Amino acid sequence: MKRIVVVGTQWGDEGKGKITDFLAQKADVVTRYQGGNNAGHTVVIDHKKYALHLLPSGILNADKVNILANGMVINIEALIAELKNLNHTDYQLFISDRAHVTFPFHITLDKHEEFLKTEKIGTTNKGIGPTYKDKASRIGIRVATLVSNEFESELRKLIDEKNIDFKNYGLPLIDFDSVYKTYQAYANIIKPLVKDTSLLLNDYIGSGKNILFEGAQGTLLCLDHGTYPFVTSSSPTAASVPLNTGVAPWLIDGAIGVTKAYSTRVGAGVMPTEISGDIAQSIRIKGNEFGTTTGRPRRIGWLDCVVLNYTNRVSGLSYLAITLLDVLSGLDTIKICTSYTLDGKEIFTIPAHIKDYEKCVANYIELPGWHEDITGVKSFDALPVNAQNYLNKITELTKIPLAIFSVGPRRDQTIEVSSIFED
Ligand code: GDP
Ligand code: IMO
Ligand code: MG
Repeated sequence: MKRIVVVGTQWGDEGKGKITDFLAQKADVVTRYQGGNNAGHTVVIDHKKYALHLLPSGILNADKVNILANGMVINIEALIAELKNLNHTDYQLFISDRAHVTFPFHITLDKHEEFLKTEKIGTTNKGIGPTYKDKASRIGIRVATLVSNEFESELRKLIDEKNIDFKNYGLPLIDFDSVYKTYQAYANIIKPLVKDTSLLLNDYIGSGKNILFEGAQGTLLCLDHGTYPFVTSSSPTAASVPLNTGVAPWLIDGAIGVTKAYSTRVGAGVMPTEISGDIAQSIRIKGNEFGTTTGRPRRIGWLDCVVLNYTNRVSGLSYLAITLLDVLSGLDTIKICTSYTLDGKEIFTIPAHIKDYEKCVANYIELPGWHEDITGVKSFDALPVNAQNYLNKITELTKIPLAIFSVGPRRDQTIEVSSIFED
């Protein structure tokens, strides 16, 4: 394959950043296609940890082209700060002229609208929903407008509109002058990076480059296919790549589903395999399961193959990359969910209505665990037999071949079982 999507198969934080960084070593271009700085993608190279929120996880590999595509919502201030934090300036980055801009007032609205909700979503408070809402309402500001002479008049229109909401909410009104001044300065900084990235990507495809499309969030957080309304405001599926990058669907060769060896979720919403108590706490500590963006403790659960099969159906996964396998060392038995029971009936898919999904009870198979430390393992055959059996069982239940597994956060703790990119 030459053009591959990296998809989160669960509720986000599956290790997409780490897998993207690993695969980026053989790629020429890495593109984020949706979401914004609600994402938190951790990459660890030589014991140095990077938390990427907007920048594609190819940015730490020298000579790679990195793209923020049109489907993204971009907090320009956060982007500039992230670039400064990189500690190197020889990156190649392009920003789509069609991506939308997240302003501080989107963040205020995100927080306030969450505050008003009785049933809270637990958003990351990064202004993601309100920015996509303006995009859908056709009043949002694209990067092309931000760097144009029309920015002042378009921003004035948007702020006039937003101030109606602010007034209704009893919030202090947005000061046009200060937003305009600040964002005009940001526009000058990013202007040289702004491009029609669909043109750029299609040129790279024409010249046979290897391209990674890095998803943010996970399929169960998809606006369409996720646990609505407890979802984000974009689609992290493979299907969203063509629309959100300006690349024809048939030019995408396949998708790699990044899957944690168990489940986690941060924020509200159903997770049928959720567990609490000692096992959950030990997984949380061992896996460092605290949000990369918000620091919130992640909820913990057993691996859910109903979720994986669902993700496979909506994204068409060519391979799995199973991460954090090391975290399960030390358990006597490990459970895998294979179906749900809903109103006395066994089901194998996810009901659309959230109240039905909340009623689903997970059915499990149980496998013997392993006690060895596997963090130094370099091949599949070197894994304890029970860890091999666990991985084999997942591929048997999902019928998705395993391409990668990982046994620690570092790049060199990632083991490629079958090669993904064409050489
Ligand atoms: P992303 O949002 O999908 O990129 O995932 P995050 O970076 O938010 O969360 C994944 C976490 O797991 C990060 O802290 C990674 O450093 C860590 N991680 C990734 N792979 C492994 C692994 O194989 N083992 C362990 N112990 N940690 C891992
Ligand atoms: P990465 O890319 C995990 C969750 C939030 C909340 C819901 C909506 O690191 O996997 P939003 O701020 O997007 O409106 O919040 O989605 N969420 C994530 N959870 N990982 C993420 O990104 C997430 N991005 C958003 O916790 O439940
Ligand atoms: Mg994350």
